[in-house]
Amino acid sequence: MKRIGVLTSGGDAPGMNAALRAVVRAAAYNNIEVEGIFQGYQGMIEGDFKRLNERSVARILGRGGTILKSSRSKDFMTKEGRKKAYDNFKKHGIDALITIGGNGTFTGAHIFYQEYGIPVIGIPGSIDNDLFGTDHCIGFDTATNTVVDAVDKIRDTATSHNRLFFVEVMGRNSGFIALKAGIATGAIAIILPEDEMSTEELVDILRSTEESGKTSSIVLVAEGSKSGGAYEIAKRVTEEYSEYETRVSVLGHLQRGGSPSCYDRVIASRMGVAAVDGLLEGRKDVMIGIVNDRDTYTPLEEAISKQHLPNRDELRIARILSI
Ligand code: F6P
Repeated sequence: MKRIGVLTSGGDAPGMNAALRAVVRAAAYNNIEVEGIFQGYQGMIEGDFKRLNERSVARILGRGGTILKSSRSKDFMTKEGRKKAYDNFKKHGIDALITIGGNGTFTGAHIFYQEYGIPVIGIPGSIDNDLFGTDHCIGFDTATNTVVDAVDKIRDTATSHNRLFFVEVMGRNSGFIALKAGIATGAIAIILPEDEMSTEELVDILRSTEESGKTSSIVLVAEGSKSGGAYEIAKRVTEEYSEYETRVSVLGHLQRGGSPSCYDRVIASRMGVAAVDGLLEGRKDVMIGIVNDRDTYTPLEEAISKQHLPNRDELRIARILSI
């Protein structure tokens, strides 16, 4: 293997730069050249490539976002788009691809491997933490800490005004952020895509805690919850129960930014090196992950089709502690 390509794709996540740095330096260590592909798969189609060496990735370890930039390429979903991408690969003499991203990124990588046989290894970077085959995705720890910081601040004003806040966090299909941050901030209820909570159930919790002397509360809602977003849930609850003055706060994209935490920098560094090691060992069409502190390689097909579910016991714990 002489030259590999690396790209970031889909929603950016804090720590993607740390993973890129690790890929480039591990490749250089093994005398492999690296072609940085800008703008995700779209850049692969348009030939937006730039040679990277160990010095090109200096001082990016602690930077949020992705210096390679990212996109959700519609063109790569077409056969014609992927053919153009393959032609660019051949033109630049690239032997293998490392993709840093989430579910959509790996779906594209898996199809590209099936069509053209280019060895591909995925590095899981997604604040949603929704990929099967790893305990943690890069960016999740930082995003969760960002949410905890924001909710702690909301708690100050909620307490001062005796208000009920519905705080919406990211997580299209997955409630990891809501669950972890909900436990860490003492949310009275946590509403996840993986779980149902009726308006009646929520009202019962609010009523009983108010009766025991609670004067303000925070409900954490994952954006993909089956009961709707924070605005919808707040509306239904206040129709049934109007004891509290209610406010809604949608945290949005601030969750995706910021300097990666120590944990995210470390797992990104580990996974970047393991991805290069994996290619050298002849692995292909797999995602690198860390499970119980050990590096693992999961077939991309499995990583994208199986669900990584939050620990239900944590939901039980959250309910016990919110009385
Ligand atoms: O996949 C990560 C994620 O941040 C989701 O939690 C969120 O639903 C989505 O990306 C938002 O995507 P966009 O930045 O395209 O609006």
